[in-house]
Amino acid sequence: MTVSAHQDLSTILEKGQADIESAQTSRELEAVRVALLGKQGSVTTQLKQIGSLPAEERSAFGAAVNRIRSELTSALEARGLAIQAEEAEAAIAAQRVDVTLPGRGRRTGALHPITRTLRRIEKIFSRAGFDIAHGPEIEDDFHNFEALNIPKNHPARAMHDTFYVSPSTVLRTHTSPVQIRYLETHQPPLQVIAPGRVYRCDSDVTHTPMFHQVEGLAVDKDVSFADLKGVLIFFLQEFFERDLPVRFRPSFFPFTEPSAEVDMGCVFCEGEGCRICGHTGWLEVLGCGMVHPAVFDQVGIDNEAYTGYAFGLGIERLAMLRYGVNDLRTFFENEIRFLEQFA
Ligand code: DAH
Repeated sequence: MTVSAHQDLSTILEKGQADIESAQTSRELEAVRVALLGKQGSVTTQLKQIGSLPAEERSAFGAAVNRIRSELTSALEARGLAIQAEEAEAAIAAQRVDVTLPGRGRRTGALHPITRTLRRIEKIFSRAGFDIAHGPEIEDDFHNFEALNIPKNHPARAMHDTFYVSPSTVLRTHTSPVQIRYLETHQPPLQVIAPGRVYRCDSDVTHTPMFHQVEGLAVDKDVSFADLKGVLIFFLQEFFERDLPVRFRPSFFPFTEPSAEVDMGCVFCEGEGCRICGHTGWLEVLGCGMVHPAVFDQVGIDNEAYTGYAFGLGIERLAMLRYGVNDLRTFFENEIRFLEQFA
């Protein structure tokens, strides 16, 4: 082999190795491979020359070209693997997801207006020293009626449009049975409210078959009607955040004596008279009274030693007045645009 042929080969090898090392991407490396080993590649060109050499030089030259070809081939392979690993790593880094980042465009939910109203009611009565109790929605006749001084065939039962589960079991028609359950398990002095769902077979603009009430009960040695008035006026003024007029009208409930219905000055017309208050300037908001001695008898409380007051209010009614909603049914239709207004 001639010196110059030898020099050519070592130049090709060195330059090839340098090009392989400086290739940064698979594409660049492929271009280097083609320049060396492709059809017109520098190594291929050398191989093609073998035929034109003197016979005695062919085998040495051929062996030398093949050696650099195999050296360059392994260098290409090694660099190829390294580039692949780098590229894979870069791809992973580029796709990395930070799972701790907050999601995009996520809408937060909001409490239902009935829930908001209930929480507000609970908060106000808690500040006045009331505990919170719960009772079952499927109730027996005794707790829903009998113990509340509403015996069988009493006309007051007709007011309730009761859903019967069985002849002696009902969906509670009011939260008043929780008064009885609470008195069965607690000794006075006590002050408690009992919120929850109630059911009546009734449906129109102002009635839904399920609605919510909050019952209130306070029993102690000298509880008077003045205490009842004080608590309810405090509650209504706190709830509506203004100095409303409140009036008590004589009424009838079997489980209270005396009984009253409570009206407050219309929040829409400030007492001037409007459609919502039926042009009276007053809105009826709840029922109340002094616990009937017959109720104390049912739960074994000495009705000579103790007196108590009770009240019951409708949560939907208060929510409608507070938020200016005029159709009760909108609370239960789950129309998202309606509900979102209370967020
Ligand atoms: N339970 C009555 C109703 O559902 C409301 C009520 C009135 C509750 C007077 C009371 C009360 O505790 O004293 O209509």
